[in-house]
Amino acid sequence: MSIAFIDLAAQQRRIRPQLDAAIARVLDHGAYVMGPEVRQFEAELAAFAGAGHCVSCANGTDAIALPLWAWRVGPGDAVFCPSFTFAATGEVVPWTGASPVFVDVLPDTYNLDPVKLDAAIEAVKAEGKLTPKVIIAVDLFGQPADYPAIAAVARKHGLKLIADSAQGFGCTLNGDHPGHWADVVTTSFFPAKPLGCYGDGGAILTDDAALAELLDSLRVHGKAVASDIAGRTFDHDPKYLNMRVGMNSRLDSIQAAVLIEKLKLFPEEIALRNVVADRYAEGLTGHVAAVPTVIEGGVSVWAQYTIEHKDRDGLAAHLKTQGVPTAVYYPIPMHRQDVYSVYPQPGGLPVTEAKAETVISLPMHPYLDVETQDRIIAAVKGFNG
Ligand SMILES: Cc1ncc(COP(=O)(O)O)c(C=O)c1O
Repeated sequence: MSIAFIDLAAQQRRIRPQLDAAIARVLDHGAYVMGPEVRQFEAELAAFAGAGHCVSCANGTDAIALPLWAWRVGPGDAVFCPSFTFAATGEVVPWTGASPVFVDVLPDTYNLDPVKLDAAIEAVKAEGKLTPKVIIAVDLFGQPADYPAIAAVARKHGLKLIADSAQGFGCTLNGDHPGHWADVVTTSFFPAKPLGCYGDGGAILTDDAALAELLDSLRVHGKAVASDIAGRTFDHDPKYLNMRVGMNSRLDSIQAAVLIEKLKLFPEEIALRNVVADRYAEGLTGHVAAVPTVIEGGVSVWAQYTIEHKDRDGLAAHLKTQGVPTAVYYPIPMHRQDVYSVYPQPGGLPVTEAKAETVISLPMHPYLDVETQDRIIAAVKGFNG
């Protein structure tokens, strides 16, 4: 039988009747966009992550762009982020007119290196061309970045901190979610994500009530929100007052209805993913160049199980012949893509460049059974590259 890289069908089988009923409720009430399920899901997600507020939106890319916009990040500003990430992390920065500044990652966790981050900020300040404004840390492959150290760098330089937790939503460090340190946490509900829906979706979590209200306005064309309306009278419906230039980044009610059902399973699924990860580590340690290292005190949600091998492409070809699918995240780091190569990369990114040559991700999902996993482990061990 062929092995799934991510088995969404197994999860669906567990909750299909609940999903059918939840979707049917939306069809019955007909409020397809930003309906009651969206409000309910936002409240439940905020409670799950211990955040004061959740503002859902259309995808995980908009979720990063919206706070940049709310903070008026623009031309002449610098936003520091890793290059070893999905393109969305850095892509949103030029949308605002600001410049991404690419920073190297740590060799064991693949997450932002706080020492190199500090050095990059100092270098940009010394050059004097750009004004440092924001840091975007990424919870790559599901594990938390080194938030205590990164937040200390952000405080030292007076910068805002975004946790791009599209892959890591649900991860914790010393028992806290990334929002304990970051000004905002963003996530994606793309179907393959640990908490995914059946289309596109995203969310922003923050403890800052004023920011949440501003994000709520920006995601719906800059609509008037409570603080815009307070103490004023109108001779028309203030619903169509546009107080600022916004965008359309709303969540569909059907997606929220699906997410409400999936969130109920999520804590158990995180535990199951960790069982799978532990079994991989047990089977593969010593047989490949590296198995994943999770930051001390961290709990990963294992969006990916990524190992390293000196003959990564040979291993991928071998596993294919054994019916084991693999993927490479990411073969070309952002700063090596033509379109992003023009942006600053102070000090260079030697770790990012080396890792891009050796990383390879194995099938990972909460429902990977022991037998299948043992097949995968045996297939990896059977490669003599
Ligand atoms: C690290 C990271 N940031 C942002 C995104 C963007 O999310 P979306 O595809 O929902 O726009 C993704 C996933 O696709 C991601 O992996």
